[in-house]
Amino acid sequence: MSFVTTTQAGPTAAGAGANATEAFRAGTVRRGSAQTGRERVDRVVRAVLAAVHGVIRDEEVTYPEFQAAKAWLMALGDVGEWPLFLDVFVEHEVEKVAEKHQQGSKGTIEGPYYLPDQVRLSTPATLPMRDDEKGETLLLSGQVRDLDGSPLAGAEIDFWQADADGYYSGFAPHLPDGNLRGLIVADEEGRFAITTILPAPYQIPTDGPTGALVSAAGWHPWRPAHLHLMVRADGHRQLTTQLYFDGGQWLDSDVAQATKDELVLHPERQPDGSSHVLHDFTLEPT
Ligand code: DHB
Ligand code: FE
Repeated sequence: MSFVTTTQAGPTAAGAGANATEAFRAGTVRRGSAQTGRERVDRVVRAVLAAVHGVIRDEEVTYPEFQAAKAWLMALGDVGEWPLFLDVFVEHEVEKVAEKHQQGSKGTIEGPYYLPDQVRLSTPATLPMRDDEKGETLLLSGQVRDLDGSPLAGAEIDFWQADADGYYSGFAPHLPDGNLRGLIVADEEGRFAITTILPAPYQIPTDGPTGALVSAAGWHPWRPAHLHLMVRADGHRQLTTQLYFDGGQWLDSDVAQATKDELVLHPERQPDGSSHVLHDFTLEPT
């Protein structure tokens, strides 16, 4: 399945947003349902509304401001930017709550750009990329283990990342489907080696309602360069995480607030100009 909007010549917020909305709808089976009971809905929604009412009182929000907010929320839905907006400004808090009860390697937000069913590659693997793919070569290798240190044979690393211009395949129409995406199967000792390129920092689309908000508030729209992974092994909780790069721009001011110290890689530059880094994962049993 493709989420590429073929009518767009270049990447736009509307294109990325609409595709992220499509991808979210297509993924609802994978994500399961919340099965939220009446008491919980009552409690949580009342708390959300009370928080909003509190801001209106404390900040003495005016009628024109209220109507502007309404128009902005409508625009967010019209162009399909809800996944973009929520994954940048809200998901990190949900993830931190989930993390309180988790062991093993640190996770972080999934973001809006995961696509399932990518090419399966056995280790050592090179991610699918264009013949003239820009960017410095990166070799990421490591091992997937249980909490007790035992290797997890055949673990899967579902991997996706932006290119050296900060765009994700499947969401930017100029990129081939599946570019810089792949599911890498580790060996019988849980070891993996993935060759890819260093991604660029990611800029949330600036030409849609989310971008308008960011500039109206005087914020910056950047996430530090990162790799996305889901790590899976039978009998273990799936880990959804990201890896960042030491010294990377925006590491200390990620607009999505999704960095963690444990997730920062320290790649070593090799004589041939490529960078190598070792990084292991531990998964907790389910
Ligand atoms: C968004 C994009 C990302 O690449 C990411 O990791 C998190 C959020 C976004 O645009 O919403
Ligand atoms: Fe991302």
